[in-house]
Amino acid sequence: MSEDSLSVVEVDSSDYGLVKKVVELVEKTMGMWQAHYASTCFNQKICRSLAIASEKLLGVVLFYTAQLELDRSLGVIYYVVVREEYRGRGFGKVLVSSAEYLLEDAGVDLVVATARSENTPSRNLFNSLGYSEISLHAIEEIYGELLTKLTCGYEDDLVFFKNMRASLTEVLSVLSLESNLKKIEELWYTLCYRPWREMRSSRHMQQI
Ligand SMILES: CC(C)(COP(=O)(O)OP(=O)(O)OC[C@H]1O[C@@H](n2cnc3c(N)ncnc32)[C@H](O)[C@@H]1OP(=O)(O)O)[C@@H](O)C(=O)NCCC(=O)NCCS
Repeated sequence: MSEDSLSVVEVDSSDYGLVKKVVELVEKTMGMWQAHYASTCFNQKICRSLAIASEKLLGVVLFYTAQLELDRSLGVIYYVVVREEYRGRGFGKVLVSSAEYLLEDAGVDLVVATARSENTPSRNLFNSLGYSEISLHAIEEIYGELLTKLTCGYEDDLVFFKNMRASLTEVLSVLSLESNLKKIEELWYTLCYRPWREMRSSRHMQQI
């Protein structure tokens, strides 16, 4: 494959053929639960996505914006995956930095992502792009599960963040406003809780 023929394309969420390929790549890399969350994020028109493609998809990033009160907004990098045989060539960095560009263009104040602390490639990816990291537990101790809910980061223990126009503390304080709690609950229910419940009940049905 010639790297000259590579392109980064924005995935049109109404292009069901392409969305299916994106979800299949998430499933191949991260498993069927994560694929169901990714698919829900597309179906609910919450996620945007960029893909690196040649004849096939080599990597994808899914991201979304949470619009908050006081004219604040948070960009979330939801999934970034690169096909195993194409890792270590800078594709992860291209995907995340391109998503950041679109998020910044959309006016977000802060970009966040979550991962497990043992996920070294992920940590190196975000650190190499200038993200700071903090334990999700440390945030939960002060702010409760607001950020966990907003990122559906239940399986993760680390948050990566990059300030665009505001600091993490500023955005977390805005998240805590009464008027944002309902928005966070709605997003969490749609993006995180309902798909989790669907997967759990379909697994349960398979067992009986
Ligand atoms: C995380 C992931 C997307 C990185 O993609 P990638 O294309 O290999 O990353 P890049 O080549 O752009 O590398 C980015 C940085 O991470 C480092 N890195 C990449 N893979 C690494 C590895 N296996 N071990 C250590 N560091 C690694 C690179 O050295 C680079 O840092 P540098 O610029 O300081 O040299 C890829 O490993 C992946 O798809 N993992 C499975 C899915 C996942 O866990 N996603 C994250 C959570 S949603």
